[in-house]
Amino acid sequence: MNVNEPHGGILINRVDRECSFEGCVCEAELDQLALSDLELIAIGGYSPLTGFLGEKDYQSVVKEMRLADGLPWSLPVTLPVNEETAKQLSIGEKVALVKDTVPYGTMTVTDIYQPDKIQEALSVFQTDDPAHPGVKKLLERPGTYIGGPITASRLPEKAFEQFYCTPADTRAAFDKLGWKTIVGFQTRNPVHRAHEYIQKSALEITDGLLLHPLVGETKADDIPSDIRMESYQVLLDHYYPKDRVMLSVFPAAMRYAGPREAIFHALVRKNYGCTHFIVGRDHAGVGSYYGTYDAQQIFQSFTEEELGIKPLFFEHSFYCRKCGNMGTSKTCPHGARDHIHLSGTKVRELLRQGKKLPKEFSRPEVANVLMKGLHQKPIAIQHITEVHHEQ
Ligand code: ADX
Repeated sequence: MNVNEPHGGILINRVDRECSFEGCVCEAELDQLALSDLELIAIGGYSPLTGFLGEKDYQSVVKEMRLADGLPWSLPVTLPVNEETAKQLSIGEKVALVKDTVPYGTMTVTDIYQPDKIQEALSVFQTDDPAHPGVKKLLERPGTYIGGPITASRLPEKAFEQFYCTPADTRAAFDKLGWKTIVGFQTRNPVHRAHEYIQKSALEITDGLLLHPLVGETKADDIPSDIRMESYQVLLDHYYPKDRVMLSVFPAAMRYAGPREAIFHALVRKNYGCTHFIVGRDHAGVGSYYGTYDAQQIFQSFTEEELGIKPLFFEHSFYCRKCGNMGTSKTCPHGARDHIHLSGTKVRELLRQGKKLPKEFSRPEVANVLMKGLHQKPIAIQHITEVHHEQ
């Protein structure tokens, strides 16, 4: 294997289809976020985690962005349970992990603890504002956390089976392709020209690109993943060299934790075998909670050796009329007047009127997919305007 080694050195696999439920003292109900976390722990996406965080690791992650043994890890991966379930459990016991009556696996309980959620919110999201979608989710979840190693007896249904790869699969694929350097790209939005620009800039210095859209739970007004997947496919079909890009889905939920999530996204893509990871403007941000480059600056809290994946930072990218191409303030001498800025109102208006989005903003093939998709699912129109407010 030439590809990058997993975080912590070993690629975790906690899937055991024969996993026994015997001896489970009760059931813990998973929410959608916990289910996607279970899946990612089980398939090794969250290596070195073998389960939901115990108290010592949790405290250390919240305060120091490191597991208790010092390894960088920026987001707490926790399993909240209601009081009734917590009361039935003691340390050392086995609990069945269930969602909507479907059993997904078991956990051996090593920790039962009460988090300080306000402290968690302030550390992880830098705000305790309940209007922040990540904070809202955190506060809504039950108030006791249980931790311990898990075994998954099954994985959730795959929405995009054809594009589903475990970290072991992507690693094997990169090896087969002969790629030694692979840049990972996280996205939760339909692809636009700025995305394409930074991906292709990265492709100039790496062997391959793992286009890795997040398809787990997102805010209700984010663009649905089926429309996004279609937009990525048409873009790849028309504008990318086939042998240098791999499109595969990332089944995680979005936390909207900005800087801390950028570190997390990078570490997880390292587990998928990436050697490089793109961090552009306001990575994993929402609203105006984070500064444009906070998600880049946070990488200074770690050495490159301990992260084990090289971040590639990109400035805010735009199309410049005078240059006649994409650029950033690093490469374009012209002023904002020459840069294509589409206000949210303008984009919404164009989409509502069924007019094409300018080709400087979005490839026509992608714009068509969006227009078609958005007419079927009008809620998504709102979000397009939010995402592209700076364009
Ligand atoms: S994210 O929540 O997954 O980060 P999004 O899909 O919009 O949201 O962004 C994917 C990646 O592209 C992130 O690294 C983000 O910082 C970067 N990005 C998005 N738009 C731009 C832009 N105009 N210029 C530079 N980087 C960008």
